[in-house]
Amino acid sequence: MTADPTYRGFALDAETALALLQWQAELGADEPCLDAPLDRYVMPDRAETPPAPPPAAPVVAKPRDEAEDLVARAEAMAAAATTLAELAAAQEAFDGIELKKGARNFCFCDGNPGARVMIIGEAPGEEEDRQGRPFVGRAGQLLDLMFGTIGLSREAVDAERGLYITNVLTWRPPGNRRPEPAEIAMMLPFLTRHVELAQPQLLVLMGNTPCIAALNQQGILKLRGKWTTAFGLPALPMAHPAYLLRTPLAKREAWADLLSLSARLEG
Ligand code: URA
Repeated sequence: MTADPTYRGFALDAETALALLQWQAELGADEPCLDAPLDRYVMPDRAETPPAPPPAAPVVAKPRDEAEDLVARAEAMAAAATTLAELAAAQEAFDGIELKKGARNFCFCDGNPGARVMIIGEAPGEEEDRQGRPFVGRAGQLLDLMFGTIGLSREAVDAERGLYITNVLTWRPPGNRRPEPAEIAMMLPFLTRHVELAQPQLLVLMGNTPCIAALNQQGILKLRGKWTTAFGLPALPMAHPAYLLRTPLAKREAWADLLSLSARLEG
C-alpha cells in the first residue's frame, strides 16, 4: 500500500515474477485460494463484526447425520465391487467426498496387484495428483529406494518381489493438508475392500493416516516397527518417507523396519 496517487504497482519482469512464484511454491504455497485478490484493507475490522448468534435449538428430532449416510453409501458401493477394476470404478464414481471436486486425478493404486506386500500411504500429493498414481513425487522416489534395498519393487511382475501401493485417500487434499476424520471414514470402506480384493500377505502402514484408518491409533513414532494386525493381516507401521526426507536421522529406524519386513517375508 502507498499514499502516492501516482503509484501504479511494481514493474516485474517475467524472470523475476517466475522466480517469486517458484519461491512461493518452495514454501508450500502451491495453489491460489481465490480467483481475485482479496483487499483486506477495505474489509470491515473483525472486532466490529458482531458475533454470530448461537444456533437455534432443534425443535424436531435431528435427521440422520449426513456423514453417516455417506459412509453407508460408500460401504454399499465398495461391497458390491467384486474385482479391483470394479472397486476403482466405484470409488471414482463416489461423489460424497468434497476433495474430488478440487483434485485433478483419481489416484487408486500403482504396482503389482498380486504382490505379497501392500503399502498403504496417506493421500496423493501434487505430483501424484498430476499423474494419477500414488507415491510418484519425492517421497515416492525415496520409498522406491527404501524397498529396493530389500529387493522389492513396484515394477516387479512376480508376487515375491512385487509391491502394491495405495493410499487411504484417493483424491488430493488441498495444499497437502492432513486428511480429516470424516474423509478417512468415507474412504475406509473402499480401502477395506481394496485389501480384501488384492489379498496381500503383509501390509505396510506408511505414516499416521493409515494407522488412524486401519488401527484407529495414531503416534507413528511409537507405533513404527511393531508388528500388529490390520484388516485381518500382519501389518507393519513405518515412518512416512516424507518424514524421513525432513528427518534424515530417522532413516536408521526405517532401515531396521525394512529388515524386519524382509525377515518376515523370508521366514
Ligand atoms: N504421500 C503419501 O502418503 N502418498 C502418496 O501417494 C504421496 C505422498
